[in-house]
This record gives sequence, C-alpha cells and structure tokens, in this order.
Amino acid sequence: MVDNVQLNAEGKLKHFLSIDGLSKTLLIEILDTAESFAGMSEHAVKKVPLLRGKTIVNLFFENSTRTRTTFELAAKRLSADVISMNIATSATSKGESLLDTIRNLEAMFVDMFVVRHATSGAAHFIARHSAPHISVINAGDGQHSHPTQAMLDMFTIRQIKPDFAALKIAIIGDILHSRVARSQILALNTLGAAEVRVIAPKTLLPAHVETLGVTVSHNLTEGLEDVDVIIMLRLQKERMTSALLPSESEYFKCFGLTPEKLKIAKPDAIVMHPGPINRGVEIDTRVADGPQSVILRQVGNGIAVRMAVMSMAMQVKGGS
Ligand code: CP
Repeated sequence: MVDNVQLNAEGKLKHFLSIDGLSKTLLIEILDTAESFAGMSEHAVKKVPLLRGKTIVNLFFENSTRTRTTFELAAKRLSADVISMNIATSATSKGESLLDTIRNLEAMFVDMFVVRHATSGAAHFIARHSAPHISVINAGDGQHSHPTQAMLDMFTIRQIKPDFAALKIAIIGDILHSRVARSQILALNTLGAAEVRVIAPKTLLPAHVETLGVTVSHNLTEGLEDVDVIIMLRLQKERMTSALLPSESEYFKCFGLTPEKLKIAKPDAIVMHPGPINRGVEIDTRVADGPQSVILRQVGNGIAVRMAVMSMAMQVKGGS
C-alpha cells in the first residue's frame, strides 16, 4: 500500500501512518529532526514552544507503556496541550463507534490524533475520515505498522553505527505477528541496509516473507554470523490464533538470545528489542541487561523521534 495520504500537496509529512511509500530523504529528515531534539532531555527546561496552542489527543485502544508515555512526553516538550484518553472509561464502552468518537473529539477543535488500535488500518481509517486540518499519527495498528517504533530504532542504530549500507541486521522471533518487524524491514531497506535477515521458526514467518526484501534463516546459530545489529521480538501470544510452538522453553532453547549465542555475532553487535521484553522466553536476562544491549536507549530515543514526527506533521521546524 502506498500511503500518499500521508503527504500534503508539497510532499511534506501530514500524517504518519506507515513507512510504506515514504522516501529515503523523508526518513532521513525525520532522523535529523529527531537529532535536533535529542539533546533537550539533558536541559533544565525540557521544552520548546513549537506546538504551543495545538491540541493533541492520544487515543490508545490497546495497552501501552513506552509508546503512550513517550508520545505524551514528546507533546508536552513541544508545549502542546495533550489529553490521553482513557478508553476503558470512555463512551467506547457504551457502544460509541470509532467514527463517532472522532467526530466528537473534532468538535473540540483538536489538531492531532495519536492512535493505537488492535485493528490493522485503524489509523488510515481515521486519517481518511478526519477534518482536513487534523494530522493522524499511527502508534501501532494490529499486525500492520508501528512506524514511530521503527524510526526510533533507526535513530538508535544510526547513533551507534551511522552507515546503514555497511550493516547486516538480524530480526529474530515472531515476525508473523509483528507490526514492528514489518515497519523495521521497510525502513531498513529504504535506508539502504546491506542485509536484513529474519531468523524464526517457519510457523512464525509470513508466507513469501522473502518478498519483503529479507533473507531467511530458521537456525539462530547460523543466522547470527556476521551480524552488526540484533533485534529481538516478543512472542505476540495475544495475536496467535493457534498453537504455533511446542512450548516457551523449547522456543528459548532454539531461538532465545543467550550470552553464548550472542558471541556468534560481531563482537561489537548491538542488541535491540522494542519491548515489552519477556526474560527467559526470547532473551536471557544477562543479554537484556548486558553491555551490548541498547534496549533502554531505544525507549529514551522515542521522545525525540516522536517530537520530530509530531512537529513535522504540524509543519513546524525546530530543535535546539
Ligand atoms: N514498543 C512498544 O510499542 O511498546 P508499548 O506496547 O509499551 O507501547
């Protein structure tokens, strides 16, 4: 799907729904804009007035720790007025449709919706049905897309290993159900990564996965050879409709990242995970908390990257 709906008439970001259809130039602009905000977390006053007077509504129909909090912090650091709606206590529980919820919030003169929803395509739907002045940012829709997660991952990689063309990246685990993996693969290929490798049992890979622009391995020991960046994924049991694995302990034995397995990758390889992590299921606690892990750095970088996307979608520039 090419998301021209994401761009305005001048080709600038209007909504951020998917990496699909976005150019390398635009992805680099997001990373560079995020770079300009990254130092702000160290400042005594962690605010810029770029979105003063704008109103942003966080609409999280699915649970979240990292994405919701960093979107809210990012909005506050841009001086926007931000409301994180509690969906559990909203009129959604009384049967109000998504479209009616949007219409009612629009009537309150909002400027941006940040949307997480269990249904693939929900953010696109809202973007297509919102008033023309409103921007929509996808904070994760079903199995489809999690574009700000992919961009904060690209930002973290670029901080440590700036030349994407020199990098071999392995994405390991439940690719089948992962919106993060889909967005990462698109972003890495757009940015020109040397190789994107997926490592998973056959039951956790989509059909024809090679067509996404990846190489495939079903063996962690073989797949980790020569790798610069390792991205671990959680087993997304909430999206599994049948038993795809013998057991979690068997999965950990074959695909869990332990200190011994990590040694197969390049000595300076970094270990990433979008979170939440399940220790002892996909990752050994010594790796998750070890010197090669950048998992918490990814979380912190989420603020700068989300500030970049929100300010770009509102057509304002800046940073410190
Ligand atoms: N990575 C991620 O989306 O985490 P949350 O579900 O906590 O937002």
